[in-house]
Amino acid sequence: MDRPKIGIVFGGCSEEHPVSVKSAQEVAKHLDTEKLEPLYIGITKTGAWNLCDGPDADWEDRSCRPAVLSPDRSVHGLLVLEQGQYETIRLDLVLPVLHGKLGEDGAMQGLLELSGIPYVGCDVQSSALCMDKSLAYIVARSAGIATPNFWIVRANESLRRSRIAYPVYVKPARSGSSFGVTKVHREEDLLGAVESARQYDSKVLIEEAVVGSEIGCAILGNGTDLIAGELDQISLPWSLQDPPGERPGERLRELDDHRSRGHPR
Ligand SMILES: Nc1ncnc2c1ncn2[C@@H]1O[C@H](COP(=O)(O)OP(=O)(O)OP(=O)(O)O)[C@@H](O)[C@H]1O
Ligand SMILES: [Mg+2]
Repeated sequence: MDRPKIGIVFGGCSEEHPVSVKSAQEVAKHLDTEKLEPLYIGITKTGAWNLCDGPDADWEDRSCRPAVLSPDRSVHGLLVLEQGQYETIRLDLVLPVLHGKLGEDGAMQGLLELSGIPYVGCDVQSSALCMDKSLAYIVARSAGIATPNFWIVRANESLRRSRIAYPVYVKPARSGSSFGVTKVHREEDLLGAVESARQYDSKVLIEEAVVGSEIGCAILGNGTDLIAGELDQISLPWSLQDPPGERPGERLRELDDHRSRGHPR
């Protein structure tokens, strides 16, 4: 029997491109190829799409064929360029392994909705909401979940610093993987931190520091039929005061899991 074809989209034009390639390598390592047939779709930093062998670090230098995901539901998959002609490959499922802008913010999810191909992850609305940390806080607050106090600085807006209680974290509203995030202890350093964050987004967030640990948990499923994944804790092997070029990636550590495993929550 044919294995279901799964399109794995990785790379992308956001600053998180290398993080996505690394995530796709993890997917490749764990995917059961006896059950699923993976098709790796790599997007370069400049936004070119290619069907390639896999997400190795040098994937762009290996044999790749230009390929795009068609929004046409009758194709339900890829258009692959082959000797001046397009071949179509039907996909049963897409796993977007993109991080950041145009990958996690609803853009890719919009294309997948148009294509009619089932995909893994959040839908357009929740992707767009969660990509913008300030909007995510507003939604969480209105559901009664505590969030740190925060201030938004938009493009060309000057800082009103008077009510800010230090330390604070300054970050791009719509980025990730700690790009442009700085911990600020003194008012004198605030403007520099805002400028760092502005390299990644015109909308910047200043938020009060929270004392505690950051715990993550993936939730899989639709409607009320949900499965919670392993708990993990993010640790930064560097300080947020270190210059961005000198920061290795975030590390994930699995925590002892006290939940009842495998049961919907
Ligand atoms: N308000 C805060 N209080 C304490 N620590 C914070 C706060 N904001 C950020 N941090 C620290 O900075 C790190 C990066 O911040 P954050 O997770 O908000 O941005 P990101 O990692 O760039 O975005 P994403 O998690 O969406 O990829 C966090 O893992 C945490 O260590
Ligand atoms: Mg984070």
